[in-house]
Amino acid sequence: MRDFNETTATAAVLERMSGCKDRRLKEIMASVVTHLHAVVREVEPTMEEWMAAIQFLTQTGQMCDDKRQQFILLSDTLGVSMLVDAINHRKPSGATESTVLGPFHVAGAPKKKMGDTISKDGKGDPTYVSGRVLDQAGQPIAGALLDVWQSSSDGFYDVQDQRQPEMNLRGLFTTAADGRFFFRTAKPSSYPIPTDGPVGKMLMALGRPPMRPAHIHFIIGAPGFEPVTTHLFVAGDEYLDSDAVFGVKGSLIVPFEQHDDAKRAQQLGLANPFFTAEYEFMLVRETG
Ligand code: BEZ
Ligand code: FE
Repeated sequence: MRDFNETTATAAVLERMSGCKDRRLKEIMASVVTHLHAVVREVEPTMEEWMAAIQFLTQTGQMCDDKRQQFILLSDTLGVSMLVDAINHRKPSGATESTVLGPFHVAGAPKKKMGDTISKDGKGDPTYVSGRVLDQAGQPIAGALLDVWQSSSDGFYDVQDQRQPEMNLRGLFTTAADGRFFFRTAKPSSYPIPTDGPVGKMLMALGRPPMRPAHIHFIIGAPGFEPVTTHLFVAGDEYLDSDAVFGVKGSLIVPFEQHDDAKRAQQLGLANPFFTAEYEFMLVRETG
């Protein structure tokens, strides 16, 4: 190949990979090169624009370490994470839908008993979350593990906020034979994804709000069932239709009802007034 030009470029690069022994790698890289060249042909970047793109990706990489992952945030905000998730978690109707994991999951959350609170500082609006974990026939699943985490009522995860105790608003709950779960917490609020890096600048330049609607994260697993990584979103949140990471699904929006009932509050171990939210998760049996 001595005549690499606008017309021959794509074929030339594909031909150079023809000896690749890994079929899947070859398939993926051929697609990446073909689409990337198509983008370049379509937008015809100036040299300055191309260098700005290189700098953007360089800064994205420079903001990745064992605690921060700016590339995942980039994938999240471009809708790629949710698209990959959708392709990999095609579910039968009625099964709980999945969403992005997000950067704030921490392994090894404290084990809790049903009814416990996950709030270590007692701040925020008292909230009672309950429901059941069911199979597709509507039968309760015993021994399902719910890994729960959420931001504080002012919109920060414990790992982002020195003022919160470690493992605040995190807990692991295991269902009994009735499949029920119930715990106390603080009502979550909407919050911005981290905006101090290139992804934040990108959102700003695109006129996109960095906000996520209020939610509680769950990973739910049970022996013999496919685990699901999901959220429950607070109905009525102003950002449900503009989630910065495209994580919202209608089936995961739940009313958080406010109650003014001192007797019931006392029974549930909450201050009055309080909120309740209820949801039934449905897991799919593993096949094969
Ligand atoms: C989160 O909900 O914790 C989250 C998800 C994706 C990107 C940033 C934050
Ligand atoms: Fe979150």
